[in-house]
Amino acid sequence: MNPADYIDYKAVKKLKIFKKNILIRPLLKNDLMRTINWLKDSEIHKFLASDFKDLTLEKELDWLKEMNKSLIDFVFAIEDRKLKKYIGNCGLHKVDWENKTCEFGIVIGDKGYWNKNYGTETIKAIIELAFDKLNLQKIKLFVYEYNNRAIKAYKKCGFTVKEILIKDHLFENVYWDTMVMEINKKEIFKENS
Ligand SMILES: CC(C)(COP(=O)(O)OP(=O)(O)OC[C@H]1O[C@@H](n2cnc3c(N)ncnc32)[C@H](O)[C@@H]1OP(=O)(O)O)[C@@H](O)C(=O)NCCC(=O)NCCS
Repeated sequence: MNPADYIDYKAVKKLKIFKKNILIRPLLKNDLMRTINWLKDSEIHKFLASDFKDLTLEKELDWLKEMNKSLIDFVFAIEDRKLKKYIGNCGLHKVDWENKTCEFGIVIGDKGYWNKNYGTETIKAIIELAFDKLNLQKIKLFVYEYNNRAIKAYKKCGFTVKEILIKDHLFENVYWDTMVMEINKKEIFKENS
């Protein structure tokens, strides 16, 4: 039986997760104009896998519809809990129910919130969701070598570099490495036992 058949994935998609400074909640249609502006910002998309040049509201609405139907994607908005302000998106993608793995993505789009631990708090909450609510075993992510802020945040949350894809990303006429980072539920359990 596929785990997606017995995990109530629809309930997970509707979750609201309250942490000290953030609220993780479902991403809504009304959020998407702001999402688009963030993704088109060159200081942000240089860290992301696509350049989002041709992104339109119509395309983004279709994407959200697809995400909401998907059995292998879980996307959320991040809010500043105190101010109830939408500041970014995060999600788990390519869930492989058989092998219990997935990929993680995050964008804190409101740059005023960078370096204030909101990313770390979000990453920790999503790790909890993946391991406890979705019963997955491993989370994987890809990060460019020049994204030191992200690498630091991921390491703080327990991710380690498992592989380096040498010079496979072109940015500003230079080829950069991509780090493949992972966190494994079993390793966390071992460390804490
Ligand atoms: C990456 C991201 C999620 C991190 O979230 P954040 O809230 O800014 O990060 P945090 O404050 O939780 O942690 C960042 C850490 O990196 C450190 N840092 C910041 N700039 C750094 C740099 N150039 N070199 C090394 N460390 C750096 C911070 O001091 C902090 O460490 P500390 O808590 O020990 O002081 C967020 O900045 C973001 O969304 N950036 C744009 C999109 C992106 O890069 N997404 C990830 C793609 S893989």
